Amino acid sequence: MASNTWAPHEQPTGLSSPWDAGYGQHVSVWAIVVAAGSGSRFGSSVPKQYLPLAGRRVLDWSLAAARSVCDGVVLVVAADRADAVEPLADHVVVGGSTRSASVRAGLRALPGDASVVVVHDAARPAASRRLFGAVVAAVCSGADGAVPGVPVTDTIKRTTTLGHQVWVADTPDRDTLVAVQTPQAFRVDALRAAHASGAEATDDAALVEAAGGRVQVVPGELANRKITVPDDLVAMEQYLGDTDED
Ligand code: C5P
Repeated sequence: MASNTWAPHEQPTGLSSPWDAGYGQHVSVWAIVVAAGSGSRFGSSVPKQYLPLAGRRVLDWSLAAARSVCDGVVLVVAADRADAVEPLADHVVVGGSTRSASVRAGLRALPGDASVVVVHDAARPAASRRLFGAVVAAVCSGADGAVPGVPVTDTIKRTTTLGHQVWVADTPDRDTLVAVQTPQAFRVDALRAAHASGAEATDDAALVEAAGGRVQVVPGELANRKITVPDDLVAMEQYLGDTDED
C-alpha cells in the first residue's frame, strides 16, 4: 500500500479536529462507532451498549470521546434502532449481522473528503481522548493503520483440537504479544480496500494486515476494557464515576 506524505504533528490538546496535513491543509478525520451487536454474552434483554453507566448510556461515553477528536461520527446501530435520535452522532446507519459487516455499513456513510477513519467499539466506553489522538497521530505520520496494544501478563498458548480434546500446539514468546483494543485508526482508502472482499475478522487491523498494510501499535490503556459481562459494567461504573474527562 502507498504511504501518505502527511507530516508528523502533536497529539490533540483541544476539543475538536486538530489534524493538519502540513502547509495548513486540514486532514478530515471521521469516526465509526459500532453499536449494532446484540451482546448475547452479556445476558441482558437490552444490548450492553445501551445500558446506563455513570450518568449516561455506555455508547454515549464512546461517542463523546470520538466526537472530541474527530470531525464527524457515524454511529452504526441495529435495525430496530434505525430511527433513534442520537445527538452525538452525525449519521446513524444500520449495521450487519457481523462486526465487519457493521464497519462496512459505517464506511459507506463516510463523506468523500474523509482521509482518516477511527473505528471504535461502542462497548469500550473508557477509551480516552488521548488514545483517539494517539492512533490518529500515528496514521497522520505515515502508518496505514494504528491500534492500541497492552502487554499480556498471562502466558498464551496456541492450541489444537483433536476429537474432543484440546492440546497445546506451541507457546508464542510473550514479549512479542500485545492485547489489542479499539479505537483503531486507518487511512480511509486502506480500510476500504481491506474490506472490499467482504472478509470477516474480529478487528479491522487484521483485514488491513492481510491486505499488506502496515499497522503500528501505540500504548493502549488498561482501563479501556470492553464491556462483555455484567461485572465489567460494575467496575466501569466505579472507574468512570471517579474519572470524568469532560
Ligand atoms: O460482540 P463484541 O463485544 O465483540 O462486539 C464489539 C462491538 O461491535 C460492539 O460495540 C458491538 O455492538 C459491535 N457489533 C456490531 N455489529 C455486529 C456485532 C458487533 O456493531 N453485528
